[in-house]
Amino acid sequence: MAKSIALAADHGGFALKEEVKKHLEEIGVPYRDFGTDSTASVDYPDMALPACDAVVRGECAKALLFCGTGVGISMCANKVRGIRACCCSDSFSCEFTRRHNDANALCMGGRVVGPGLACQLVDLFLNTPFEGGERHERRLAKVKAIEEREAQK
Ligand code: RB5
Repeated sequence: MAKSIALAADHGGFALKEEVKKHLEEIGVPYRDFGTDSTASVDYPDMALPACDAVVRGECAKALLFCGTGVGISMCANKVRGIRACCCSDSFSCEFTRRHNDANALCMGGRVVGPGLACQLVDLFLNTPFEGGERHERRLAKVKAIEEREAQK
C-alpha cells in the first residue's frame, strides 16, 4: 500500500480540499485529512502543522495544503524542518518545484485556483520525480544548512 498524502486546509481552502479529496479517491490515492471540516473560521497553522509533521515523520509521502491564497499555509509549512513547500497556481512552477526543489508540500489557494486546475496540479505534483543531480542536491543541502542554522538560534 502506497503511503498516504496529508491534506490540510483552513476555511478558505476547505472547499478546494474537498474537491481534491474526491479526485484522490477517483484515482485511488490514499490520503489522511488533517482538517478543517467546515467553512467556519480557523487558523491555518493549526491544520498545517500536524500534516507537515506527518510528512517529516515519514507517515505521509507529501502534503497538499490549502488556504484562501495558498500563501499563509505555505509560509507556515516552510517553517517546519524538512518541509519544502511551494505555493503554486501554474503547471510550470508545479512541475519544476518537484524536478528541481524536491518539494514535498503543494499549497494552493481556494480563492485563486479552480478545482479542475487544482486537480491537474495535484497529478503533476504527485507524479513528477525529483531530477536529482549534483547542482540540485548542492542547493538543497544549502537550504537544509539554513534550517540547521536557524534551529541553533
Ligand atoms: C483567511 O481569511 C485567509 O487569510 C487565509 O485563508 C489565507 O489566505 C492566508 O494566507
